[in-house]
Amino acid sequence: MIDLHLHLLPGIDDGAASIKESREMLTAAHALGFRALVPTPHLMERLRPDDQWRIAAALAAVAAEATPLGMRIDLGYEVALTPDLPARLEANEPITLAGSRAILVELPVVGWPTYTESTLFALQAAGYRPLLAHPERYRAVQQDPTLALDLVARGIMLQVTFASFVGLFGKAAKRSAETLLRHGAIHILASDAHSAGHRLAAVEKARARVVKLAGEQETRAMTVDNPLALLADRPLPMQSPLLDSGRGGWRSRLRLAFSRP
Ligand SMILES: [Fe+2]
Repeated sequence: MIDLHLHLLPGIDDGAASIKESREMLTAAHALGFRALVPTPHLMERLRPDDQWRIAAALAAVAAEATPLGMRIDLGYEVALTPDLPARLEANEPITLAGSRAILVELPVVGWPTYTESTLFALQAAGYRPLLAHPERYRAVQQDPTLALDLVARGIMLQVTFASFVGLFGKAAKRSAETLLRHGAIHILASDAHSAGHRLAAVEKARARVVKLAGEQETRAMTVDNPLALLADRPLPMQSPLLDSGRGGWRSRLRLAFSRP
């Protein structure tokens, strides 16, 4: 498997606090079957040169630990979505996933900024591939899944956190993750691990739950094939059925899903 969203770099954000903790995360991720990781430090504002230097040093330290395990490490960011993001990318701010055209963006947990759709579509128009981090954990999506499904119908990709499927983020996030899964609206599953603890520990059980709900082939797409395609700037091997279904199509299926017990 490939993990495109985790906080692995020591002392960079609220993830691993030390190289010892990074090592524990690497060991746990390896045991779960991850062979490539893209650490994604939080980026709340423009990337400053001194941060870039610190992050490069942390990445090198982690890569030295990962190589003997046969694991590949690349750098990405979890970027707070702001209206100036298209301009920042235009100015070559190096904040995509492993230098690809894919960019992991996050929204506030509460609220749905008015510029969300317009900024995501502007990124697409500029040739980037926005991947929305953990939509199932946003209060707005929990209350109205159509916010996320509308984005998928327009070609925006969704990354859901494994642990949501086992209830680690509460019932609403679990329900929301399952709704998105039932609609084939999840492109990527990732750990969003900040330590070797709960979120990584939940991966195996969560993966089993996803296999039960969506089947082995789709699970493989969300954990191996789609992440690989994103990193290589290739089209996703498995596209969401929502993409071509038109608004009416998925809306009627959504009603069906909600009517299930
Ligand atoms: Fe994260």
